[in-house]
Amino acid sequence: MQHDATLKVDNLTVDLLTSKTAVRPVDGVSYSVRKGECLAIVGESGSGKTVMNFAPLGLMPAGVSTELSGSVKFNGRELIGLEDGELRHIRGKSIGFIFQDPMSALNPVRRIGRQIAEMAELHLGLSPSAAEARALELIKLVGIPDPEARLRQYPHELSGGLRQRVVIAIALAGEPKLLIADEPTTALDVTVQAQILRLLKDLRKRLDMAMILITHDMGVVASSADDIVVMYAARAVERGPVEEVLTQPRHPYTRALINAIPKSSDTVGTRFRGLSGMPPILGAPNPGCAFAPRCDLAVAECRHTRPLMSQATHSTVRFACPIANTESEIHGTGTCS
Ligand SMILES: Nc1ncnc2c1ncn2[C@@H]1O[C@H](COP(=O)(O)OP(=O)(O)O)[C@@H](O)[C@H]1O
Ligand SMILES: [Mg+2]
Repeated sequence: MQHDATLKVDNLTVDLLTSKTAVRPVDGVSYSVRKGECLAIVGESGSGKTVMNFAPLGLMPAGVSTELSGSVKFNGRELIGLEDGELRHIRGKSIGFIFQDPMSALNPVRRIGRQIAEMAELHLGLSPSAAEARALELIKLVGIPDPEARLRQYPHELSGGLRQRVVIAIALAGEPKLLIADEPTTALDVTVQAQILRLLKDLRKRLDMAMILITHDMGVVASSADDIVVMYAARAVERGPVEEVLTQPRHPYTRALINAIPKSSDTVGTRFRGLSGMPPILGAPNPGCAFAPRCDLAVAECRHTRPLMSQATHSTVRFACPIANTESEIHGTGTCS
């Protein structure tokens, strides 16, 4: 039992229907994360990262109807098909989350201490005074200096970095087994980004939580995560241990993302090496590989045959590209080991 995943997602597909559109932002994706480990989910904006994590928890905006298929198991319990009342017990308590939009996370007209304490009351059933004591513990846990004074302040009195620490304290108030952090450092400057990532890593280890770190920035992954899923246009294109994927990327899209990371040897003023071409607009499911129009290796087959995930030779990495597969077999490090 001990080695079972905290969250195990198998072949998850999400269809979104609004009054205007029908899209499939998640198309047959699988991944898992264990206790004490961090899984990074990386991909450009619009690739389905947020929907993939929040739709199974019933956290989609009003006016969007969601159809899910596949399986999402949290500590062995299937979440797909649960009533909203049952999901509500899991949301915020067993699974904590940090939303992408930092403005929506805190109530501007309520004191910070009250906002943290309220979560502890709601999720742990603490009395108001016990919840206040818990709020103080939490604010210390996330490394906010002068904690007693900070509890009495309002969000606008804090810097962006301290506000994000408060958001983390709120996410931890229910003592979650899994923390889903959606772009938790995107709105912060680089130094503060590094501090928040260090804090999240430290908390994950101290609390022995599983964590999912959603990011569009390959640069934050190396120091933060154990495993990685690379998303492109609603599909996972590569997944495996971070160290291997970063040093030996197989999928052409993963390679392109890694090449786009600024390097320390870059001189000031070096042009940002973005990816050439445009990310696809999601519409009807693509019959072929969605990356083909931007891919240097693409052949005719790529445009009409969906690439299946296959396992790399002598490795646990999986990737969805038959062309890269051939390449790595020819130019790989050898097949005799
Ligand atoms: N509220 C919504 N209404 C309609 N479509 C949406 C909504 N949210 C997301 N989508 C669709 O899902 C796709 C993936 O969105 P999202 O998961 O937010 O991407 P990411 O988090 O990777 O930037 C979007 O490109 C869009 O087509
Ligand atoms: Mg997102």
